Amino acid sequence: MATTSTTPAVPLDFSPTPHFSRPTFLMCPPQFYDVDYVINPWMAGNLHRPSRDVAFTQWNSLYEHLKTIADVRLLHARADSPDMVFVAHAALVHHGIAAISSFAYAQRQPEEQYLRDWFKEAGFLLWDTPRETSFEGEGDVLFDPEGKRLWAAHGVRTCLHSHRHVADAWHTEVVSLHLMDPRFYHLDTCFAPLAGGYLLYYPGAFDVESLRKIEEAYPVEKRIAVTEQEATHFACNVINIGQNILMHTASNSELPDRLMDLGFDVTQLVLTEFLKGGGSAKSLALRLSDMNVTNGL
Ligand code: ARG
Repeated sequence: MATTSTTPAVPLDFSPTPHFSRPTFLMCPPQFYDVDYVINPWMAGNLHRPSRDVAFTQWNSLYEHLKTIADVRLLHARADSPDMVFVAHAALVHHGIAAISSFAYAQRQPEEQYLRDWFKEAGFLLWDTPRETSFEGEGDVLFDPEGKRLWAAHGVRTCLHSHRHVADAWHTEVVSLHLMDPRFYHLDTCFAPLAGGYLLYYPGAFDVESLRKIEEAYPVEKRIAVTEQEATHFACNVINIGQNILMHTASNSELPDRLMDLGFDVTQLVLTEFLKGGGSAKSLALRLSDMNVTNGL
């Protein structure tokens, strides 16, 4: 008979092999990127619409900008995985432990083994999640900037039952949030803890109980709520390292100014081809270093 252990397998004194003294990310080039199927509302109507050449130029611009503020490792793209460019959803990494995703849709499941192989080779400790409790990496589970607490979403892709299992990889506290709107199917489309204790979020994506948890953790002066129009331009799907923010160009939005008034250095990039697949800046880079490794910026 199968037994469920309540004792986490990773020892508390585990000391990780990979050590990062600079913010370090993993990216995967869009060599085979396309919208080949529909697994989120953004992909509907965009089948085979992204231009691979334009996608490459846009991805490269993000890569070059990210390289000025972080180290970036590269993962080989695979022909059977057109969504692999959105590498942030394939794992959640902290303290040398990589919790490998268990994708909800079969179309993305081949990515799991590619990531498992890469992390193994790079010396990370692997943490697997059972297939029946889906978990989509940094897409749905995010550390706060101190690396002390996990925010985990359920309701669309990631299953509530995976939250505790994933948190056990780091023996950490986990706060579950319920996503209510299929357009914001991953936590990273509507929720971004930022440096300085700020939170960028779209309140309309959450149920009342989740909003209460968010408001309890972030005082009103630290909450940066975006409008529905901004949220649908992936305004929350940003990469934040210290004071630097990389995001998709927010036309007709005061958000970049609001962020700059709070002391952030905002770089806007055109990422339209990736919006067709349902993702933006944050989804294109997976963090390998711990949240508190910030470059001192
Ligand atoms: N097509 C990918 C998927 O549906 C896109 C992922 C982008 N996700 C995001 N969190 N923005 O899985």
